[in-house]
Amino acid sequence: MTMDKYILGIETSCDETAASVVKNGTEIISNVVASQIDSHKRFGGVVPEVASRHHVERITMVIEEALSQADMEPEELTAVAVTEGPGLVGALLIGVNAAKAFAFANGLPLIGVHHIAGHIYANRLVQEMDFPLLALVISGGHTELIYMESHGSFDVIGETRDDAAGEAFDKVARSLKLPYPGGPHVDRLAQESRETVQFPRVWLETESYDFSFSGLKSAVLNHLHNAAQRGEEADPAAIARGFQESVVEVVTGKTVRAAEAYGVRQVIAAGGVAANKGLRTSLQAAFAEKGIPFYIPPLPLCTDNAAMIAAAGTVMYEQGIRSTMAMNGRPGLILQSWKEKSGFSV
Ligand code: KG4
Ligand code: ZN
Repeated sequence: MTMDKYILGIETSCDETAASVVKNGTEIISNVVASQIDSHKRFGGVVPEVASRHHVERITMVIEEALSQADMEPEELTAVAVTEGPGLVGALLIGVNAAKAFAFANGLPLIGVHHIAGHIYANRLVQEMDFPLLALVISGGHTELIYMESHGSFDVIGETRDDAAGEAFDKVARSLKLPYPGGPHVDRLAQESRETVQFPRVWLETESYDFSFSGLKSAVLNHLHNAAQRGEEADPAAIARGFQESVVEVVTGKTVRAAEAYGVRQVIAAGGVAANKGLRTSLQAAFAEKGIPFYIPPLPLCTDNAAMIAAAGTVMYEQGIRSTMAMNGRPGLILQSWKEKSGFSV
């Protein structure tokens, strides 16, 4: 008989203070997320110092709440998994130090998790992974296509060369005077609009799986400036729709091409922008047509949360990967296959 594993996950890499208990890497027992969006709204983006201060204030309470909702004592846990990077350094440090203190006090193994591995493993809380698979991680900080041959094997086959998709959504939203975070507002306007403004599709070199969104963002800004100079009123909904159509077409096109070229058995999407209705609809239709199984986790698991960190941490635990008390928050951490970092890492 194998023993059940209960992993406590902790996530503080950006603007959510989150803790969660996950059973055997697949079942959410508790999932607590304290969002800071309201505090950052008036600045139009995440202010690192404000984020760190909120994390410090809330982390203990959020961990206690995750345990209490799970109705568990620390000694019933198997290990503690925490986001080691990438992210805001001051924000990461709060989670890493809380995890270290908690693991030390309760004699539990400690596991440092890459934030993107977490986003990918969010899918395992809903649907078992089937390899080889392709993951599209699309958020405020990332736009990556990752090929996975097996658990813990990550091959980044494409990534953004400039802005992340979510960053472009947020900047375009800001230029349209929409509140932060702008992605959901652009999405809503795009659905409502009947008109559309044509913007370029940025495909880069034909064989490349990389993305670029800064040119598209500039095209939107130019359109607004030109309209202002001519004394014309720009149509925010038509701009939102045109911008979103450009992002959706390119992201869908590259994801489908990669899935076919690599012959994957499953495609999964993750990250905040995977919440986008236009993108979801387009990807679902494209993969239904190709006959390739395609999954997106439910919205609360698409955006930052700690259940995804616990889910990834569980598989790392099973592979024998542990971190030492020398672990630090690593803002620029690169996504490495777990085999390459098996055993102890700092
Ligand atoms: O994954 P996430 O919560 O945080 C990280 O960046 O790791 O993603 C947040 C991003 C923001 O840029 C937000 O505007 C975007 O996801 N987002 C959306 C939508 N919902 C959230 N972008 C487009 N359409 C949406 N419906
Ligand atoms: Zn994220």
